[in-house]
Amino acid sequence: MKNIVLLASGSGSNAENIIEYFRKKNHPHQFHIITNKKDAFVLERAKNLNVSAEVITKKQNDEGILLDRITELKPDLIVLAGYLLLFPVEIVALYPNKIVNIHPALLPKFGGKGMYGGFVHEAVVANKETETGITIHFVSEHYDEGAIIFQAKTSVVETDTALDVAQKVHELEYEHFPKVIEKLLND
Ligand code: GRF
Repeated sequence: MKNIVLLASGSGSNAENIIEYFRKKNHPHQFHIITNKKDAFVLERAKNLNVSAEVITKKQNDEGILLDRITELKPDLIVLAGYLLLFPVEIVALYPNKIVNIHPALLPKFGGKGMYGGFVHEAVVANKETETGITIHFVSEHYDEGAIIFQAKTSVVETDTALDVAQKVHELEYEHFPKVIEKLLND
C-alpha cells in the first residue's frame, strides 16, 4: 500500500480520475487531498469519494504548515493535479523525484508563471499551433521546469476554440496521468 498526497486548486477532475483508476484496479493505496482554496470543487469530490481532504492556504504554505503536514503524512508520492501555487522549495528539496506535476501543454512551450488552466489553451489557439498535449514532470523550484517524465500529443485544428483544446487535453490527462503515477509507484 502506498501513501499518495494529491494537491489540487480547483475542480479536481484529475484527482478523482486518479483515485478511481486505482480503486478499479483494487490497489489499496491511501489517498489524501490538499487544496489551497476553501471553495475548491475538489473538496466535494473528496467527500463523495470518501477520501480525507484539507485546506492549506498560500499564507499557511508560507508559514511552513504544508511542510509540517507533508512530514506527518509521509507520502510515497506527491501529485500536483491542477495545483496553482508554486510548491514550497523546502519540500521540493526533501522529496527529490517524489513530486510530480501535470502541465496541460507540451513543455517547454506554454509553461512558466501565468501559464495555467485556460490561459495555456488560449495561447495555443492564438499561436495557431497544430498540436498540443500534456507534460508530466518532476517538480523543481521553478514553475514547469523539472525533468520531463512523459508527454503525449493531440492535434489542434483551425476551428478549435480554447475550450475544445482543453477538452482534448483533459482526455489525454485522464488516460495517461494515472498510468504514469502507477509506474512511478512501482519503480
Ligand atoms: C488540468 O488541465 C491540469 O493539467 C492543469 O489544470 C487542470 C486541472 O483540471 N494544471 P482538474 O482540476 O483536474 O479538473
